Amino acid sequence: MVIKKIFIFFSLISLATFNVLGEPYQGNASLGPLKTPSCGFCHGMDGIATMPSYPNLRGQNEQYLFSSMKAYQNGNRKGDFAEMMRTQLSALNNQDLADIAAFYATMKDK
Ligand code: HEC
Repeated sequence: MVIKKIFIFFSLISLATFNVLGEPYQGNASLGPLKTPSCGFCHGMDGIATMPSYPNLRGQNEQYLFSSMKAYQNGNRKGDFAEMMRTQLSALNNQDLADIAAFYATMKDK
């Protein structure tokens, strides 16, 4: 009985560790459009920015997109625009970010 509890305890720990070190979030590109209605206003629904001062996201690397969005959420990117991006992303969880990253990453060059 105790052995079983210890086993479950360590299984949970290893699962948690895997989540931290691995890549648990598989992005689903087809869900991206549902999660990016406001993003298109600046980044374009085709991933080409609507203003020269906004970055294009089309065809950008998936992992880079995910980690840059995490950096805004964590406050690791600084500046007025970064602060604005943090607000934009504040309501999104990791799965949302993964779906969004997949959505923009899988767009091919025009
Ligand atoms: C009001 C315009 C605006 C809106 C709306 C907006 N963004 Fe941004 N986004 C920007 C700007 C400007 C930057 C560059 C910020 C900086 O200086 O770091 C940026 C940066 C980014 C980056 C990093 C790009 C790179 O090359 O590093 C990602 C990813 C991103 N935005 C995704 C999103 C997503 C997803 C949404 C919707 C939830 C969104 N943005 C909404 C203007 C916007």
